[in-house]
Amino acid sequence: MSTRETVVVLDFGSQYNQLIARRVRELDVYCELLPHDTTAAAIKQKGAVGVIFSGGPDSVYFNDGPKADPAILELGVPVLGICYGLQLINQMLGGEVKGGPAEFGRRVVKTTGGALFQGLPDSWECWMSHGDFVSRPAPGFTVTASTDTCPVTGLENPEKKIYGVQFHPEVAHSRYGRDVLKNFLYGVCGVKGDWTMKNFAAQAAAALRGKIGDKKVLCALSGGVDSAVAAALVHEACKNLTCIFVDTGLMRKNEAAEVMRVFKDERGMNVIKVDAEARFLTKLKGVADPEKKRKIIGGEFIRVFEEEAKKIGSVDFLVQGTIYPDVIESGVGKSAVIKSHHNVGGLPDVVDFKEIVEPLRELFKDEVRACGFEIGLPASIVMRQPFPGPGLGIRVIGEVTSDKLHILREADFIFRDEVAKAGLEKEIWQYFAVLTGTQTVGVMGDCRTYDYTLALRAVTSVDGMTADWARIPHDVLERVSNRIVNEIKGINRIVYDITSKPPATIEWE
Ligand code: XMP
Repeated sequence: MSTRETVVVLDFGSQYNQLIARRVRELDVYCELLPHDTTAAAIKQKGAVGVIFSGGPDSVYFNDGPKADPAILELGVPVLGICYGLQLINQMLGGEVKGGPAEFGRRVVKTTGGALFQGLPDSWECWMSHGDFVSRPAPGFTVTASTDTCPVTGLENPEKKIYGVQFHPEVAHSRYGRDVLKNFLYGVCGVKGDWTMKNFAAQAAAALRGKIGDKKVLCALSGGVDSAVAAALVHEACKNLTCIFVDTGLMRKNEAAEVMRVFKDERGMNVIKVDAEARFLTKLKGVADPEKKRKIIGGEFIRVFEEEAKKIGSVDFLVQGTIYPDVIESGVGKSAVIKSHHNVGGLPDVVDFKEIVEPLRELFKDEVRACGFEIGLPASIVMRQPFPGPGLGIRVIGEVTSDKLHILREADFIFRDEVAKAGLEKEIWQYFAVLTGTQTVGVMGDCRTYDYTLALRAVTSVDGMTADWARIPHDVLERVSNRIVNEIKGINRIVYDITSKPPATIEWE
C-alpha cells in the first residue's frame, strides 16, 4: 500500500480522462488512471482516499457500456462521478438514466448547495458533452445542481460519500471546475495535499538510492527533457552512473556544448561524449529519401551506443526516460507488461544490463519539467521544445551535407533567438527552420544569386498529434527574414509554412 495520498480515476473512455488525473495532481494529490474494471479489492489495496469515475462515450443502458465493480461504492471511500461516471453510479444505485436532452458546449449551471459547490457562486458557466441524463436520482441522493435543459447536473449522498456532476470540471471552460475538484479532494476526501515535485524528487532519490546503491548504471543522454531529468535524478542518488551522449552532428547550434556544460561541467556527472558527426555524414552521403535517412540515423545511433556500452561492459541498471503517458499508452494497470518505451529506439537490445530503471514513470510531462527545475536543471534543458530523434537530418531536405547543416543551424538559431526576444516561446509549441532543397534566383547588391529557400515552421499544439500553424506577428517574421538573408550566406529566400496538421505533418520529412 502506498503511503502517499492516492486518488484513483477509473477510465470509462473519456477523451478527458488524462486531464482529470492532471487536474487532481495540480491540486497536489497523486492520482492514477486505472481501467474501469479495476476491482474494489485492488482499489482498497492501493489505499485510495478517493475514486473518480470518468466520463465516456457510451450509454449506461446498453449492455456493452463499461461497468464498474459495485463493491467500490461500498468501500466507504469517497466517490465522484463525472458525466458517464455520474450516470453509471446513479444507475448502479437504483436511479434512472435516459437519452436526451443532449448538451454540448457551454451551459450555465445553477447550484443549490452541496459539498462540491461550497464557497462558489450560485450560477456559472460549465462545459457539457453528453447525450443522456439522470432522469430519476437514486434513492438517498439529493440534486445539487441543474441547467435549463438538464434537471440533474449535480447529485450527492453525503452519508455514502458519493457525489456526481454532469459537466466536466476538468476542462478549462468550466469556470469553477477546479474548485469543484478541490472541494471533493480537500472537503470530502480530506486530503492534505502531499504531491509536490519537491516531495517527489526527495522520495525518488531515496528509492533510487535504496534500489541502486553503488551498482553500475548506464543512461543514454539525448539532450531531451525526459532522459535529462531521469539521468540527473539518478545522479543525485547514485555514485556509479555513466551517461553516453552521442553527438550525431545533427543537433542544433550549441546544443551538444550545452548538454556537456550542464551535466558534466556544472553537475559533475560522468558523461562520455562521442563525436560521431563524420560517421553519420558518411552514412548519409548521397541519400535523399526521408525514410532511408531516418533508418540510417537510427541504426547508426544504436551502433555507436553499442560500441560505447561494450567498453563499459555489463551494467546492473539501464535508465529509461519513460513517463506516465507512455505507461498509460502501454496499457494502464497491466503491471506485468513492462513495456519500456524506448526514447532512443531499440536500445535495451544492445546493452548488457540486468534491469531497467524508470524514475519518471509516474510523471506527466509538465511534472517532469517541474521536477527538473526542482533538482536545479536550467530552463535551456527543462523547457526544451520537442526535437526529433533524427535531428536536423530530416530538416535538411534531400541529401544531408556538412555545408547544408551549417546553413540550417545558423538560420534556425536566428529564428529561435527572435522568437525568444519577442517573448513568444511559451505560446508556440514547436518552431524551427527547414532547409528546402529548392534553389531560386535572387539579387543581392547588383549580382544574381542562386541560393537556397529556407522555410520557417512554427506550430501550436497540445501533443503533436494535431497542430495549427502559429500566427507569429508579421514584424517578428520580418526581423527573422532580414537577419537570416543578411547574416547567412547561401539563403536568398524565406517562406513561412501555413499548413496545419493534418494534412501536413509538423516536420517536413
Ligand atoms: P510529425 O512530423 O509526425 O511530428 O507531425 C510530430 C512530433 O514528433 C516529432 N518527431 C519525432 N520525434 N523521433 C522523435 O523522437 C522522430 O523520428 C520524430 N519525427 C517527428 C516532431 O518533431 C513533432 O514534435
